[in-house]
Amino acid sequence: MRILGIETSCDETAAAVVLRDAEGRGRILADVVHSQLADHAPFGGVVPEIAARAHVDLLDGLIARALDEAGIGFADLDGVAATAGPGLIGGVIVGLMTAKAIAAVHRLPLLAVNHLEGHALTPRLTDAVAYPYLLLLISGGHSQFVAVEGLGRYRRLGTTVDDALGEAFDKTAKLLGLSYPGGPAVERMAATGDPARFDLPRPLMRRDSLDFSFSGLKTALRLAAEACQPVDDQTVADLCASFQAAVGDVVRFKATLALERFRRDTGEAVPILVAAGGVAANRAVGRALAEAAAAVGGRLVIPPPKLCTDNGAMIAWAGAERLAAGLVDGLEVQARARWPL
Ligand code: KG4
Ligand code: ZN
Repeated sequence: MRILGIETSCDETAAAVVLRDAEGRGRILADVVHSQLADHAPFGGVVPEIAARAHVDLLDGLIARALDEAGIGFADLDGVAATAGPGLIGGVIVGLMTAKAIAAVHRLPLLAVNHLEGHALTPRLTDAVAYPYLLLLISGGHSQFVAVEGLGRYRRLGTTVDDALGEAFDKTAKLLGLSYPGGPAVERMAATGDPARFDLPRPLMRRDSLDFSFSGLKTALRLAAEACQPVDDQTVADLCASFQAAVGDVVRFKATLALERFRRDTGEAVPILVAAGGVAANRAVGRALAEAAAAVGGRLVIPPPKLCTDNGAMIAWAGAERLAAGLVDGLEVQARARWPL
């Protein structure tokens, strides 16, 4: 089956066509993403109203391009999937309404996909990973461990009690006068910094919790920066490196703990840890996760960066898995700003 996937829940406008064969293997036929980064950069963050309007302007053209790249037309599709939440509601409505119109006009099944489910199922598309596996979703809006036990069977093991990890990177960057989005900027600066110069806290590093907390780390970083005015370039680099070292320690500790619990619950001899979300592209975080997997004899899967960040292929793929299981939605389905997995 060939599924069109539409993603408009944040600041990426994306459309993709994914093929799912009879054996349940996936292949991406087209995957086009337009990042609205430049539209939002002057404001230091995503402006929902600007994002929604940009999705309206861009989406039809991106869908046409995706079909063109896949070498097919609407008539060749077996279904149309769109993110129905969670996310910025204006954008979600744009994508879902577009999918409904295509489904109605071309008489196609509609798949209203949870964006988080899209992230959660991506490793089955990229690496044919079998259930069950442990997912660590670390993006601008989420930081959570989820046991993925089957399609629609997701068990959240821990989440952040305050900021998401990507948000902590973004706020750190803003505080230090670095460019938006903050994650890549902090990682670049950290490369020339001394990770031992500032002793920042490792919040919630206890064996009784799989939750994260990052707001205290951000505050400690602000106080450290204020204590060494003027903050020269080397100090910024040292702060970034120290921040990443603290994040790495927390992620390694929590991922090890989560894998141990996941193995105990599932009996998997070689537990699989999958990382998704924009922060999974960070190399220090990737190293910490690799060390956690090695510590418990597990296996780490990180999809390619383009499929870690928001994209249409993950929505198309989640739609394909749902359609294959007979889980089709009606045209009355509503967009949701909040929608836990
Ligand atoms: O998954 P994503 O593209 O969008 C959602 O939030 O859904 O994730 C974006 C987040 C931003 O907070 C960004 O700063 C962070 O991922 N990020 C990174 C890196 N690349 C992106 N954080 C740390 N290191 C990176 N290399
Ligand atoms: Zn996302």
